[in-house]
Amino acid sequence: EKGTYPHFMLKEIDEQPFVMRNIIQEYQDENDDIKLDEDIRKAMSECDRVYIIAAGTSYHAGLIGKEFLEKIAEVPTEVHVASEFSYNFPLLSEKPLFVFISQSGETADLRSVLVETNKLGHPALTLTNVPGSTLSREATYTMHLHAGPEIAVASTKAYTAQMAVLAILAVDTARAKGLTLDFDPMKELGIVSSAMESLCDQKEVFEQIARDYLSTTRNCFFIGRGLDYFVGLEGALKLKEISYIQAEGFAGGELKHGTIALIEDGTPVIALATQEHVNSSIRSNVQEVVTRGANDCIISLEGLDREGDAFVIPNVHSLLTPLVSVLPLQLISYYAALHRDCDVDKPRNLAKSVTVE
Ligand code: F6R
Repeated sequence: EKGTYPHFMLKEIDEQPFVMRNIIQEYQDENDDIKLDEDIRKAMSECDRVYIIAAGTSYHAGLIGKEFLEKIAEVPTEVHVASEFSYNFPLLSEKPLFVFISQSGETADLRSVLVETNKLGHPALTLTNVPGSTLSREATYTMHLHAGPEIAVASTKAYTAQMAVLAILAVDTARAKGLTLDFDPMKELGIVSSAMESLCDQKEVFEQIARDYLSTTRNCFFIGRGLDYFVGLEGALKLKEISYIQAEGFAGGELKHGTIALIEDGTPVIALATQEHVNSSIRSNVQEVVTRGANDCIISLEGLDREGDAFVIPNVHSLLTPLVSVLPLQLISYYAALHRDCDVDKPRNLAKSVTVE
C-alpha cells in the first residue's frame, strides 16, 4: 500500500534508511559478527574469481559490487550484462563463482546464464529481494536483500540494498581470508542510513533542481569518475525510464572524446564529486562543459565540496558514497517525471519483471 504517498516510487525512496537498518539487523549476529551461511562464506573464500551477472539497475549495483569485492576482499571480479553473457561466455577461471543480482529473481536473461552455469557445475549465489523466486531456487545459494516489496517499476531501494549486501559479503570474505580491515560495515551502513534520512528530509531541494534543470530539456548528461561514474549510469537510467528525457552517464574524462559535441547552451550536466582522489579532475571536466554552455549541477560530498555546488551530501565512508549519492538522482528523476506529467510508477513500455529474453 502507498499510504499517504502519491507514488510507490517516492515511498520506496523514503524507505531506504529503514532498509539499511533492516539489512544491518538481518546480517548481524548476537556477537556483532556478520551472520552468513557458512557455505556461502566457504564458496567466497575458495573461488578464484567472481562473475557478477545482472541487468539494468542491478547491473549498476554489480559495478559497485566489483569495487567492494576487489578493494575490500581482494577477490578478482568481472561484471557482465546477462543478455550478452548468455551467448558469449568469456574464458572462465578455474574456480569461478557466479553471483546473480536480481531484485525480482525472475529476469529471463539471468536465468538463461544460470541454466548454463548449472550445467557446467559451477556454484552460483543469487542476491534477490524475492527468496522463493526462480533464480533463488535454481542457484546453489541465496542472499536476501530484505528491502521489502518493490512495486514501482523504477528500482530504487532494491539497488541500495544490493550494494549494502554486497558490501557485507565483501567484508565477510575479507575476514574469512584473514585480511586486516579498518572497516566495520554495520557501523558504516548505520552512518549511510542517517545520511539517507537527511536527504529524504530535503526533498524540496531536489524538486527545485528538477524544475531548474530538467523541465524543458531534451537531454541530460551525468558525469563522474570512479564509483561516481557508475552511480551516474544509474542516474541516467532512472531519468530516462520515468521522465523520457534522453540521458547518458559518462566517465568524467570520456565526454570530451566525442559526446561533448552535444553540449549546447543550457544542456544540463549533473556531476557527482564524492571521490577525493579524482575531485579536481571531475571539476575540470565540469569546467570543460560549462565553457561550452552547459548548465552544471554538482552534487558533492561534505569535505570535498566547493562554492557553487548544487547539493552537498553528508560524509560517509568513501566506498559507500554510491548508497547515498544515488538518492538525489532518484529524487531528481522522480520530480522531473512528475513535472512532465509522466506516469511515475508505470512508465510506458516497461514491466516490473522482465521474463522474456
Ligand atoms: C530499472 C529497472 C530495471 C531492472 C532490470 C533487472 O529501474 O528496474 O533496469 O533493474 O530489469 O531486474 P531484476 O533486478 O529484477 O533482475
